Amino acid sequence: MKDTPPRPQWQTHIGFISAAVGSAIGLGNIWRFPYLCYKDGGGAFLIPYFVALLLVGVPLMILELGLGHKLKSSAPISFASVSKNWEWLGWWQVIFVNFGIVLYYSVIIAWCLSFFFFSFDLSWGSDPDTFFFKQFLSMSKGPFEIGNVRSPILVSLALIWFLNWLIVTLGVEKGLERANKIFIPVLFFITFVLVLWSIRLPGAKEGLSVYLKPDFSRLKDIKVWMDAFSQIFFTLSLCFGIMIAYASYLPRKAKIVRDSVTIGFANCFFSIFTGLGVFSVLGYMAQSTGKPFNEVVTQSIGLAFVAYPKAISLLPVFSKVFGILFFASLVIAGLSSSISILEAFTSSIIDKFHYPRKVVVSVVCIVCFFGSLTFATQGGLFWLDIVDHFITSYGLVLAGILECLLIGWVYKASLLREHINTVGIWRLPSIWDYSIKFITPFVLIIILISTLLKEFAAPYGNYSPLAVIVIGRDWLILTIILAFIFASRRGHS
Ligand code: PHE
Repeated sequence: MKDTPPRPQWQTHIGFISAAVGSAIGLGNIWRFPYLCYKDGGGAFLIPYFVALLLVGVPLMILELGLGHKLKSSAPISFASVSKNWEWLGWWQVIFVNFGIVLYYSVIIAWCLSFFFFSFDLSWGSDPDTFFFKQFLSMSKGPFEIGNVRSPILVSLALIWFLNWLIVTLGVEKGLERANKIFIPVLFFITFVLVLWSIRLPGAKEGLSVYLKPDFSRLKDIKVWMDAFSQIFFTLSLCFGIMIAYASYLPRKAKIVRDSVTIGFANCFFSIFTGLGVFSVLGYMAQSTGKPFNEVVTQSIGLAFVAYPKAISLLPVFSKVFGILFFASLVIAGLSSSISILEAFTSSIIDKFHYPRKVVVSVVCIVCFFGSLTFATQGGLFWLDIVDHFITSYGLVLAGILECLLIGWVYKASLLREHINTVGIWRLPSIWDYSIKFITPFVLIIILISTLLKEFAAPYGNYSPLAVIVIGRDWLILTIILAFIFASRRGHS
């Protein structure tokens, strides 16, 4: 029998909010949301986006915060107290995010860190495309040609894992709370400076108009609505066991409903705001290179590591400062999310097996560091793409459906609602139950069916079916097997 220290607790309310917002705001807000908005109807996209936020995002956030707060434990133990047969679901959530998402997420943050240093002398030169794919990643021809671990990435990756380890090992108050209380204001400040800077660039106006000009006819396309709903789950870090763990450290009196609204809106406004900067920069690039807008616009990796470096080199003044700030913002946004993932898994292990935090975090970080090396190889980008697709399109969606069914039907949404209403100030109306029992699972099932149909029509991303099966499907299956193993182990008391 081991001594169990008392459960840690957020020291301040703002500390909790910063940590939750820090988890929600990640790379997706900066490099995915603006592009979605552009592609899916500009300003008109805000309608499905906010509908998704209010209809499923905030209700699910309330569920996760309420559950973590009521049961005072991480996802696996919370689900186990609802029904012992469902403990595996909690493990699955924290495992696929910890042994899936964070492994490649940390590699992307490492790239951002490398580019932060490259900004000091604009190392990417006049051809960032060749620089990133050929020189920096030295990409192989396909997923089965793994090649070597890239040494320039290795150093940054080790640094990122060291920071992850340091923050999570220091614990909830001294690590996560303190770090996020610094990260979030700094991130907001840098973003504010970058957006103000960007919107004054020549060509920014055209960029902004493409970003936000509403095209309401796009709303007839169901794909647009599905994009909005999928983005909401991912961006709010829902169904990963993260918010459940974070809420388990709240004091008894907790404003679950108000906090869920605050976190949801802060995250979404950040996305919209940061998009102003992104599209101004793209507009500037279109103008200075004389290219039509649709040729300069990109998202994710292409945006951060090719388009932005290109635009940064074109800036007439202080281009290096711009680069430094931009990549610093990505590193901070990424780190505040990756530590939340680690915490979700760590707290699950501590809750069940009662090992000391230091030991758990050290072992987890070492294992994850080696695991993440897969994505730092020459074939890493292919692996990243496939694993990401499977984990977010299937893992997250399936886990979300099961979570709603478990809490909505087995545990009973009304029971949780009563708890939330006794501890908080804003009353949660009974229509919330409908979101959890019907609307959210329904939306997720539609998303799942449509992804499956697409998958059978053509294997994802033009990879060979073998690559998709072995790297994507089997990775996901492995996480499920692990989840059952963890759930079947007897915990220490
Ligand atoms: N919400 C983060 C984003 O939008 C991503 C994230 C995923 C965070 C998984 C934590 C866990 O980028």
